Amino acid sequence: MKTIQIVLTAALFLAGGVTTAVAANKTKEPDPTAQKAWSADIFAGEGNFQSYCMGCHGVEGKGDGVLAESLDIKPRNLSDATFTSSKSDAHLFKVIKEGGVSVGLSENMTPFNEILSDQEIRKLVAYLRSGICRCQAKGQ
Ligand code: HEC
Repeated sequence: MKTIQIVLTAALFLAGGVTTAVAANKTKEPDPTAQKAWSADIFAGEGNFQSYCMGCHGVEGKGDGVLAESLDIKPRNLSDATFTSSKSDAHLFKVIKEGGVSVGLSENMTPFNEILSDQEIRKLVAYLRSGICRCQAKGQ
């Protein structure tokens, strides 16, 4: 009886050790090429979109945010794949970083260079592609 208990305890102890090792492995830096890292990026972009852009652009980027009503020039429908696929990633990056005026658009599209890092802006562009228009830039 005792022997069985000891063997069982040892087995549980070993199993516990293995579980801990797997858990420890999970907290390592994610491989940037892994699917998991990609979805984490999308999530980061989505969080910032809902924090900084939703007010004017709306939850789904349709240009129907609560602030849009008070704007003389309304935000375009970014969820329209035909519209957004006609814009390059570099253009989207520039508009977000340097503001609408930098590309001849409304000053109401304010620059975000002092609020967001280049990396965060890149993640926003990735989110516009994957979560808002579900489109890629044409001809690139
Ligand atoms: C205060 C309102 C406001 C906020 C906040 C805002 N935008 Fe805009 N945005 C606009 C308006 C207005 C336009 C349309 C400008 C025009 O057509 O002249 C625009 C245009 C754009 C465009 C289209 C550029 C093009 O080529 O037509 C993109 C992309 C964009 N915004 C992304 C963002 C992102 C990403 C954020 C958040 C980081 C953001 N905007 C925050 C008002 C806003």
